[in-house]
Amino acid sequence: MTELDRWVLSQSERFLEELKTLLRIPSVSTDPKHAGDCRKAADWVADHLRKLGCRDVQLLASDTHPIVWGVGPDVPGAPTVLIYGHYDVQPPDPVNEWTSPPFEPVVRNGDLFARGSTDDKGQVFAAIKAFEAICQGGKPPVNVRFMIEGQEESGSRLLFDLLNKEPERVAADAVLVSDTSYFAPGWPAVETGLRGLCYTEIEVRTSKTDLHSGLYGGAVPNAHDALVQILGKLKTPDGKIRVPGLYEAVKRPSAEERKAWKKLPFSEARFLRDEVKAKALTGLKPYSVLERTWALPTLEIHGIMGGFTGEGAKTVIPAVATAKVSLRLVPNQKEKTVQKQFLKAVKAAAPKYADVKVRFLHGADPVLVDISSRPFQHIDRAFREVEGRGVVPTRSGGSIPVVPALGKKGAPVILAGIGLPDDRLHAPDEKINVEQFYKGIRAFARFLTYMGDG
Ligand code: BES
Ligand code: MN
Ligand code: MN
Repeated sequence: MTELDRWVLSQSERFLEELKTLLRIPSVSTDPKHAGDCRKAADWVADHLRKLGCRDVQLLASDTHPIVWGVGPDVPGAPTVLIYGHYDVQPPDPVNEWTSPPFEPVVRNGDLFARGSTDDKGQVFAAIKAFEAICQGGKPPVNVRFMIEGQEESGSRLLFDLLNKEPERVAADAVLVSDTSYFAPGWPAVETGLRGLCYTEIEVRTSKTDLHSGLYGGAVPNAHDALVQILGKLKTPDGKIRVPGLYEAVKRPSAEERKAWKKLPFSEARFLRDEVKAKALTGLKPYSVLERTWALPTLEIHGIMGGFTGEGAKTVIPAVATAKVSLRLVPNQKEKTVQKQFLKAVKAAAPKYADVKVRFLHGADPVLVDISSRPFQHIDRAFREVEGRGVVPTRSGGSIPVVPALGKKGAPVILAGIGLPDDRLHAPDEKINVEQFYKGIRAFARFLTYMGDG
């Protein structure tokens, strides 16, 4: 144990209480009703950075979902680390499936339960506390900047616009992103790739108004019928996406990378039984589950709306039906290209009598990360010291839209999160393991220190 570890330990209860305060703010970015709460979370983070000695703390780009910017004490001649994270969270629904209310954080059996506990408040707060730790005893060894946004869960539009106008914000020697997971307990990971996203809404209209299903049924079009015809044509039962051209840009991971994945402690049977809890896995059988979730595109239906879904029975032929559908993209695919391909495929699959509109809600380009530069040695060393094991290179099937933009000035982007695979992010009973939170603080503090040494 170093002095730093002892200090973190001595402050651990305060750190946890502070995190709980942030977790009590329901900063759901996708829901306009929570705009005020997003602002509250931003103010809280900004005040916190000020208290820790940051200068130039600002709320950028918006009154309701601002980007929190802050700069640590000036350390002339030392490298600069940019810390990125997000204070916004996913909606807590279905709320009654939570064991305790989503915005009343509570520790049970070493886990802290709350919406945002692992995604991403707990994780970004661990990086903030690491900064506090390296500021003990005077000046920190490295220049630190914070960029903590409030729209990650809804597409990061404001941050994209800001970085287009002010690209220098991401000029740094490394960017640290703590918004991902360990590969398994005891196995810290650094992501070498993230999938992209193309999130869409398909609206089908087949008549001016709803129609009586007895008087008209048998002779008139039904919007839900048209919609399921379209959806049914977009994917084969074994999981191949039928969007012409979609697989053309897909670059298969190298044989070497796939071989490394085979050595990871992963069992498809255990994954099915303990994590997925379904009767079977689906998808393209010739590929491993890791390749299917990390390196192949997907098309998923998230919800179908319209027609009659209330209590009881109503005999109606719906005029309008809507589906939310998204595609995950993999390295070398481009969101813009996929939008065009998808639009074409949907139009081609639609019956002649249906008017079809496709809206693109938000998205992200996929990323591949080259982990050969020096900062990755520092993160590896930091986790090796704290965890007894260095970081394993993995990929993730998830997306963080702004990651490609974070690297635009040449800084290596380090995706090294402290979540665990069973954290249930976006789902009821989201949690962060309290020990992970403390280990994260200790590992990130080491990383920042080693970055200062060059
Ligand atoms: N932090 C997650 C992404 C993630 C989680 C990556 C675990 C790797 C491991 C992020 O907050 C997230 O949920 N992203 C969204 C995208 C967004 C545009 C809605 C996603 O992946 O669905
Ligand atoms: Mn996140
Ligand atoms: Mn998320």
